[in-house]
Amino acid sequence: KKEQLILAIETSCDETAAAVIKDGREILSNVVASQIESHKRFGGVVPEIASRHHVEAITVVVEEALEQAGQTWEAIDAVAVTEGPGLVGALLIGVNAAKAMAFAHGKPLVNVHHIAGHIYANRILTEFQFPLLALVVSGGHTELVLMREHGSFEVIGETRDDAAGEAYDKVARTLKLPYPGGPHIDRLAHEGKPTVKLPRAWLEEDSYDFSFSGLKSAVINTLHNASQKGETIAPEDLACSFQESVIDVLVTKTLKAAEQFGVKQVLLAGGVAANKGLRARLEEAFGEKKDIELIIPPLYLCTDNAVMIGAAGSIAFEQGRRAGMNLNANPGLDL
Ligand code: KG4
Ligand code: ZN
Repeated sequence: KKEQLILAIETSCDETAAAVIKDGREILSNVVASQIESHKRFGGVVPEIASRHHVEAITVVVEEALEQAGQTWEAIDAVAVTEGPGLVGALLIGVNAAKAMAFAHGKPLVNVHHIAGHIYANRILTEFQFPLLALVVSGGHTELVLMREHGSFEVIGETRDDAAGEAYDKVARTLKLPYPGGPHIDRLAHEGKPTVKLPRAWLEEDSYDFSFSGLKSAVINTLHNASQKGETIAPEDLACSFQESVIDVLVTKTLKAAEQFGVKQVLLAGGVAANKGLRARLEEAFGEKKDIELIIPPLYLCTDNAVMIGAAGSIAFEQGRRAGMNLNANPGLDL
């Protein structure tokens, strides 16, 4: 059988990314142009600025991905692109670029869900064994996703308010740490002790949903009350206590769901998967479970990239999914 080459494009937030993937699992190239420096001084991603950077970067990033892969358009079987969710203006640049390129070179177009991409980043490391459970933790999402076969995603739990990454970024902002705050809290947490009492939102007994806004408020209130009493709380202790609370809930619910659904694999996905504390606690929890394989991707596959869109797009392409020239960006797309 001839090899399958997918050119993938991802522009849902603040990274302009393109990649060439062979047979769904082999990275031939992986180009990511990050805009973090442009958004830092605003303390978050500014949608208008993101769109403008995507427009400037997209053509060069795609050409670079082809060149690094040592491929020309002729060899490409399909173009895969993130359809949503994400920032609408940012998504539109990728979708329109993908449509134009697919049309110009006579290639099929495949639409991909951003979170399906985060999950499929794991397939670069190892073949999927179903049923599997994915813990998706990013700036915009916190979800437990059950997969019984390729291309099928069952959301068994999700956040009712803030995403885990969002909570990290908001707490970081309260502690006056730079954007994005996740990595800074992670680093601080390892220097501190969990001495501050903070809540854990377990929700209903049988629920796999999450909630992080109460925790975020508790951190803000703790700081506020301390300063009113003229006390100081060591930021590293507060960061450590916050991180413990987030990880406790994430790991406990993941473990419970993995057992209930009898999964063969547990995958970690999304930007917060870069968290050292979370990775360590998951390894601890699943370490002695010989019947469940825990897969944790390397950092460059956790944060937004186009490799993951190519990996998910490859399976979707094989399964026959095709998008027309009327494909539109969908900022609220369901998994
Ligand atoms: O998946 P991603 O790159 O973009 C979205 O699709 O949202 O995730 C970005 C999020 C940000 O909230 C960032 O603070 C968080 O991932 N993050 C972390 C760490 N590294 C990135 N959160 C906690 N600990 C980290 N080490
Ligand atoms: Zn993402």
